[in-house]
Amino acid sequence: MIDLTAPLHVGGVKLRNRVFLAPMSGVSDLPFRQLAWQAGAGMVVSEMVASAELCTRERGNLLRLKGDGLGTHVVQIAGREAKWMAEAARIAEGEGAHIIDINMGCPAKKVTGGLSGSALMRDLDHALTLIEATVAAVSSPVTLKMRLGWDDSTINAPELAARAEHAGIQMVTVHGRTRCQFYEGKADWHAIRAVKEAVSVPVVANGDVLNPDDAASILDASGADAVMVGRGSYGQPWLPGTIAQGLRHGTSDVIADYAVAHYEAMLTHYGEPTGIRHARKHLGWYLEMHGVDISTVERGSIMTENNPRQVARRLHAALCRTNAANMKRVA
Ligand SMILES: Cc1cc2nc3c(=O)[nH]c(=O)nc-3n(C[C@H](O)[C@H](O)[C@H](O)COP(=O)(O)O)c2cc1C
Repeated sequence: MIDLTAPLHVGGVKLRNRVFLAPMSGVSDLPFRQLAWQAGAGMVVSEMVASAELCTRERGNLLRLKGDGLGTHVVQIAGREAKWMAEAARIAEGEGAHIIDINMGCPAKKVTGGLSGSALMRDLDHALTLIEATVAAVSSPVTLKMRLGWDDSTINAPELAARAEHAGIQMVTVHGRTRCQFYEGKADWHAIRAVKEAVSVPVVANGDVLNPDDAASILDASGADAVMVGRGSYGQPWLPGTIAQGLRHGTSDVIADYAVAHYEAMLTHYGEPTGIRHARKHLGWYLEMHGVDISTVERGSIMTENNPRQVARRLHAALCRTNAANMKRVA
């Protein structure tokens, strides 16, 4: 079994361990990635940035490029036109990205309808033109994130990975579902093994990893070099770090401090009105996961409270009431 604490080299970039935070639009913004990084994740990946839109320099997209405080800054780009992918990669590199990741896994209709994300797995020749343009545009390593294929009858991740490696991709992440599965069913960890066997660059296994045992199982089933954690980190951005280091997270007051620091970082990052709105789902996750005797009414009223000072005070108090022994799903 792979030593999760061992560094992993991606081109010239050294990742400090082998448990990564997944890119998640609407979740893995800078405050979330900073917390995951501080807690010891080996790599954290930005939310997907649409390449053509990035080139317009719209503020929301530029915010997604920020990587302050991250030892390794990875920006994920998506798109369907080579010239925008190349330009977006250059902009991201110019903003300090150490690694550029290409999204070929997003199943959302508004993305696949635009023929990007996982729709690219239906046209590998076109996908390769995007990869080649991106690799040629930057000196940083370029990596690729994909699903197993479009549907059960077109499992082509091994072929895409091999062709991508030939085109200069330096690491491949595979979510063990097809596009048509969206997030249904269970990720097929064994199916990732065929990708590992098709390439010599590092392979990252992803899908349904919620704790250290899952991490061990996905690596065992897939033979992959590293593991990526997505939804399991809701309400616990420290999860990748704790898996990497085999730690258990501390007591309820530590979690309360953590949650409040996260909330305040979101207000700073987005500005208050937007930050208050974006933070609500995180408040809900913290309270749902770590709040033992918090009623639905109290939870709802903290989430919808508009005065940030009150939110921070009530969130902290509610989480401090929690008995650490009753914490659910904490690694
Ligand atoms: C809310 C949400 C947003 C996501 N956004 C992205 C994204 O921007 N780019 C990407 O490559 N994958 C995205 N994903 C997919 C995740 O990176 C990951 O592959 C998937 O959730 C499976 O891992 P998990 O079971 O650990 O969550 C997203 C997933 C979720 C749930």
